[in-house]
Amino acid sequence: MKKIAFFDAKPYDKEWFDRLNKNYEIVYFDAKLTAHTAGLASGFDGVCAFVNDEINAEVVDRLYNSGIRVLAMRSAGYSNVDFKASYGKIHVVRVPAYSPHAIAEHAMGLLLTVNRKIHRAYIRTRDFNFSLNGLCGIDLFGKTAGVIGTGKIGRAFIDICRGMGMRVLAYDLYPADIPDVEYTDIETIFKSSDVISLHCPLTDQTHHMLNGDAFSKMKKGMFIINTSRGALIESTALLNALNDGTVRGAGLDVYEEEADLFFEDFSNSIIKDDVLSLLVSRPNVVLTSHQAFLTEEALGAIAEITLRNLDEFFSGEALTNEVCYQCDTGKVTERCPKTENGRCF
Ligand code: NAI
Repeated sequence: MKKIAFFDAKPYDKEWFDRLNKNYEIVYFDAKLTAHTAGLASGFDGVCAFVNDEINAEVVDRLYNSGIRVLAMRSAGYSNVDFKASYGKIHVVRVPAYSPHAIAEHAMGLLLTVNRKIHRAYIRTRDFNFSLNGLCGIDLFGKTAGVIGTGKIGRAFIDICRGMGMRVLAYDLYPADIPDVEYTDIETIFKSSDVISLHCPLTDQTHHMLNGDAFSKMKKGMFIINTSRGALIESTALLNALNDGTVRGAGLDVYEEEADLFFEDFSNSIIKDDVLSLLVSRPNVVLTSHQAFLTEEALGAIAEITLRNLDEFFSGEALTNEVCYQCDTGKVTERCPKTENGRCF
């Protein structure tokens, strides 16, 4: 049986992988995959990793030198993998879609919570404080949602917005043909949206796409929702925009410096990240720790597709869900040999 080193394992991962795994000996490590822990993969045939593992060039080389040839990301996003370093050495497979609805529904949950101040009402009523002062929100019906990135999750979010009677404006590098969706440029999204929700990947181009300049163009009193990747937003610029009232509320499932914090319990520690502390302290910010994917349907699909990706690799088949630096938008380009032989190299 092939042996898989499974990093950053959580009880919910183990539950679903153990339920569906038949072909592998999986060893679950609590540790994140980093240069310090890569040695744990020695003697294994493959590695399974997640969004906050640090798969930089040094880690790739260590894995490669210990015989690893496949890295199965159990995530859709993969901005934490050094693709250039892994190319020609380690095949990187991922789970392109497991439940776009899980993430889109969480995005809307964050919007409803921060708008209607449900997080504050929950705390109040637990203390038998039934006052409504300060809890006023706005109707979302008739308001404009600006959706940046109209892939699988963006489209699911658009459907929810339309179901609520919102007008949708969209921006994407590759506009699609979606009924009743008006594509526009990013400046119009900034200027016209009451809510901006981010659903594009983190790339060099999208890093800090919401910075001070972007916030200065936005409507006063709008909402920001980010379930995509933290570094799409420059956090200090968001704090300023919250302070000057440009942003009425923010619902964040991701944070640019989340890697050393999210998924762990620091309730007995002093967090040294002042920007995060300030964001969390704002009554109009709701932060969840990268949990938008966490539904039973999504966890089951993640385990099933990851195991299938490994089956394809070890049986020498074409790798349906392989990505590399030449096809890293998920759209296979002519430059990638995957178009001919089913594998990126
Ligand atoms: P997708 O690949 O289906 O869609 C992404 C869309 O973004 C594509 O239409 C693409 O053309 C567009 N795009 C790429 N570069 C762009 C740019 N510079 N400006 C505007 N649009 C651009 O991806 P999917 O499945 O919808 O996921 C979106 C993101 O959600 C992922 O990249 C990931 O970071 C995040 N995610 C977060 C999860 C969570 O638990 N919080 C779970 C899963 C994904």
